[in-house]
Amino acid sequence: MADSSPTPRILMIDPSLVFRPEEAIKKSGWHFRNFPEDSDDPQLKKVKETYVKMHTYQTLDYVKKKHEHWRKFDKFEATILEALQKLNALVDESDPDVSVPNIVHAFQTAERIRAAPDKDWLQLTGLIHDLGKVMAFYGEPQFSTVGDTFVVGCEVGKSVVYRDTTFHDNPDMKDPKLKDLTNLSFWTKIDGDRTRE
Ligand SMILES: [Fe+2]
Repeated sequence: MADSSPTPRILMIDPSLVFRPEEAIKKSGWHFRNFPEDSDDPQLKKVKETYVKMHTYQTLDYVKKKHEHWRKFDKFEATILEALQKLNALVDESDPDVSVPNIVHAFQTAERIRAAPDKDWLQLTGLIHDLGKVMAFYGEPQFSTVGDTFVVGCEVGKSVVYRDTTFHDNPDMKDPKLKDLTNLSFWTKIDGDRTRE
């Protein structure tokens, strides 16, 4: 005989409605995107190490080789959800503020964007904005997968983190033709019709 009793109501609690981390952060005096040169904090040390590697090894030549390697699209196949789930095992070594698996960051970003409910495309963008980090599971080191990147083949932009202390061993910095910001013909040559404004 079919059970005619009503389906019991399930109480759903969204803890984010009770605990607002931004309030606790405000009280603690924490500043986001703080990149100290010297810190005893293990997470911040790792952040700097990752940027030192990025700024040492990421050259124009390196980037061109990586384009060739990854643009074959022959490394793996995955749905968007499967790729997101891979990020369960990735903690971004370049982020001074986040030490949770990247899938948490992906959903947090998408959820936060719900504040603009008319922009569903933006929610999707928030969800997938870091998906490229799955490259870390296919042999790519974190220094060329995560973090704030920079334009290669020209002078390093002033807004690049650790700009003044981490580029000294990058071979491109010793090549005058790659450092010259005014050398627009260089970009035209390697990148078709793209020029820098
Ligand atoms: Fe992100």
